[in-house]
Amino acid sequence: MSRRRNIYEGKAKILYQGPEPGTIVQYFKDDATAFNNEKKGTILGKGVLNNRISEFLMLRLAEIGVPTHFVRRLNMREQLVYKAEIIPVEVVVRNIAAGQFTERFQVKEGTPLPRSIVEFYYKADELGDPIVSEEHITSFGWATPKDIDEMMALALRINDYMSGLFAGIGLKLVDFKLEFGHLFEENGEARVVLADEISPDSCRLWDIKTNDKMDKDRFRHDLGSVEEAYQEVARRLGILTETGDGDMPTTEKAK
Ligand code: TMP
Repeated sequence: MSRRRNIYEGKAKILYQGPEPGTIVQYFKDDATAFNNEKKGTILGKGVLNNRISEFLMLRLAEIGVPTHFVRRLNMREQLVYKAEIIPVEVVVRNIAAGQFTERFQVKEGTPLPRSIVEFYYKADELGDPIVSEEHITSFGWATPKDIDEMMALALRINDYMSGLFAGIGLKLVDFKLEFGHLFEENGEARVVLADEISPDSCRLWDIKTNDKMDKDRFRHDLGSVEEAYQEVARRLGILTETGDGDMPTTEKAK
């Protein structure tokens, strides 16, 4: 079924050429990978949920003035976005020690960090996405010092906003990863915008009361109830109602 030009297939999404110049369609798959592709699997209904969750978060962030690539959701698994030139740097914000941070610095998982820490990783699977400094980013020409300042400021603003939003639904925003891109305006000027997705694939979310993990760590570490965790995040965000609606993944499976 090649109705459109597939421009890129990633681990969790496929990008198609959009209907208008300068747009692309992001198709969210159920595929999940971890540890740089070493572990592969499927999380049933994840694509549908991440499409909705990312739409929700991008729209809320746009409301507080964060420039994003998001245009609109098209259907259960697809959203239309502006075609940004992706900066090959993953921006990670950490509030509580978890994941790679606990190993790198031998800090116990769950230790609150004295202040939010922003880290940069070079997006290169063949190198295992190494952690890099601003010096690497500017020397290799991946982004300018101004881009870095903007990414840093936006990342902290997004962290403040999302920490509050998730706290309001009983979830701790432990850490998350963002990607940014350059969007070229009609006058030829480039703006830094938030791109890719924000979802339980790219955030660590822990239940405030129980510290239960409600994100991709359930898949990474075989903790079980992976689908349920994604559904619960969506439900708490008010995206899925208790009774379900036409967008429930179960409805899709029954097709
Ligand atoms: P880390 O502890 O493995 O560095 O992950 C930090 C955060 O970034 C966590 O919320 C998961 C997210 N992340 C991604 O979205 N993609 C990745 O490739 C990696 C390594 C982490």
